[in-house]
Amino acid sequence: MLKIIDDWEFNVLGVYNYHQPGPFDALFKFVRDNHDKMEGDLVESGVYRGKSLLGMAMMLKELGSDKKVYGYDSFAGFPPVYNSKDDLERFDDLLAEGLITQDHKDAVKKNIEWRNALSSQEQTVKNISSSGDFSGTSLDLVNKKIETLGLDNIILVDGPFHETMTEEEAHPEKIMAVLMDCDLYQSYLDTFTFTWPRMVNGGMIYLDEYYSLKFPGARIATHEFIKGKQAKLKQHPLKKGDFERWFLIKEG
Ligand SMILES: C[S@@+](CC[C@H](N)C(=O)[O-])C[C@H]1O[C@@H](n2cnc3c(N)ncnc32)[C@H](O)[C@@H]1O
Repeated sequence: MLKIIDDWEFNVLGVYNYHQPGPFDALFKFVRDNHDKMEGDLVESGVYRGKSLLGMAMMLKELGSDKKVYGYDSFAGFPPVYNSKDDLERFDDLLAEGLITQDHKDAVKKNIEWRNALSSQEQTVKNISSSGDFSGTSLDLVNKKIETLGLDNIILVDGPFHETMTEEEAHPEKIMAVLMDCDLYQSYLDTFTFTWPRMVNGGMIYLDEYYSLKFPGARIATHEFIKGKQAKLKQHPLKKGDFERWFLIKEG
């Protein structure tokens, strides 16, 4: 495996630099602390160009772990699985239901206003991310990165989740941690439904969009799914000026 150390090397290869503080600290620390105590592989739902996926796979190698990382994506951007629960107006409902704070709602409003002011298009769930609908990637691109880095611990599963998150496709028997980074209501639900029964007790699902200014469906799906489940929703200690970071721990 190619050993990459300097920040510029992580940047050129588009790998999440887990040696530096970053948005996925809670997940990477969890894997570092538990890889030799817990059974199960890692899953990422939402790979895009492979940034976090490659970071997870490299860190596992550094730790001497033989766990694998399963990466699920269409590798062609959001499939047509949009739900009305992804509409930006749904942040109003989240506030009314007490699921977000007024500060969160104010930040959502400001984000949409600023993006509308700077764009020629009205902001919707399909274009509100700076990467648009994430179509600027391909399976080939991610495979080239894997090859360049000499990684043999990644399994890519190509296609929309509702077709690939099945027994018939490659999948882990047991899961220790999931990086949920797929933005949309239905994509969150598909990932929860598929991964939860395979999660080991104490396993983590990192929820990249639970605090989002763009994707209300992620929080809606999370609350719908965890109702009645033995799961604890936790917040990573807040860093000044940063977003809230949330994750789920499976209990029992
Ligand atoms: C925010 S990006 C992932 C970013 C990535 N984790 C990184 O480190 O840069 C979201 C990805 O989720 C994928 N995605 C969302 N819903 C999907 C679905 N239902 N089926 C397949 N891919 C999906 C999109 O194609 C997109 O590549």
